[in-house]
Amino acid sequence: MQTIRTAKAMMAWSAAHHREGVMIGLVPTMGALHAGHRALIKAARRSCDAVVVSLFVNPAQFGPKEDFSRYPRKPRADAALCAKEGVDVLFAPPAEEIYPDGFQTTVSVPKLARRWEGEQRPGHFGGVATVVTKLLAIVRPAAAIFGQKDFQQAALIQRLVQDLNLGPRVIVYPTVREADGLALSSRNVFLTPEQRQVAPVLFQALKSGRAAIRAGGRSGAAIQQTMRQIVGKESLAKIDYLVACDPDTLEPLKRVRKQAVLLGAIRIGRIRLIDNLLVTC
Ligand code: PAJ
Repeated sequence: MQTIRTAKAMMAWSAAHHREGVMIGLVPTMGALHAGHRALIKAARRSCDAVVVSLFVNPAQFGPKEDFSRYPRKPRADAALCAKEGVDVLFAPPAEEIYPDGFQTTVSVPKLARRWEGEQRPGHFGGVATVVTKLLAIVRPAAAIFGQKDFQQAALIQRLVQDLNLGPRVIVYPTVREADGLALSSRNVFLTPEQRQVAPVLFQALKSGRAAIRAGGRSGAAIQQTMRQIVGKESLAKIDYLVACDPDTLEPLKRVRKQAVLLGAIRIGRIRLIDNLLVTC
């Protein structure tokens, strides 16, 4: 496996492989890789000839009061995991490679970024859309793989790639979970043992929403209430949002018709957890 740290070298590698007709798969990450990321890498391996994993803790997607400086960083373990998975290139640029002096262009996807994570984290999705656009321009992959775990992010990236004709096929891979249902996340390491025990309540709430729909429930408000009651039983957990939305627009549904995505975010102490479930009637 090769580690590349400059945009220029990454673009040269891509150009050389395009000339050979190699289909490149890109898995963008912020590192602290876990089994969720690993599943994305394996999916890229299956559908592409060569795999590039980008590792960049993107300062532009963290708010001033967020955990950029505390975000977990494990570059050695990440490189080892990538090498073991047969990754061809680990693209790990320093910040000045992505945001050099004079950088000023940003990308926004305003409607899909307005609610939920966008409302809780102003500026976050502008940072995500901008960095993903740059990564796609640098690596020029045939396919880019993202996790359903970050449903709003995946929806926004699909829109962005379509709107700007960026080219790659966007693959959205299902959420990888712990045995008790907690979605894997780089931030889970910050949970104390007591908080860790409470954390699966988010998935339980989403499952209760899904069960309500499967039992014939169609009122968005009632489904929301069902999910809120589950989290309400845990005094350590505070709800940011728990809603039934249209999977395409992410607008809240008054009534569920064909499909709904149940989106949830809770806080346990200072840790924020997000998760979602896509339900088809
Ligand atoms: P990061 O949080 O490192 O996640 C990288 C990719 O892994 C994302 O597509 C995310 O949805 C996926 N992922 C995370 N946890 C997962 C899980 N439990 N199961 C399946 N997939 C999972 O998301 C980002 O980084 C950044 O915003 C990024 C897209 C790299 C832009 O900076």
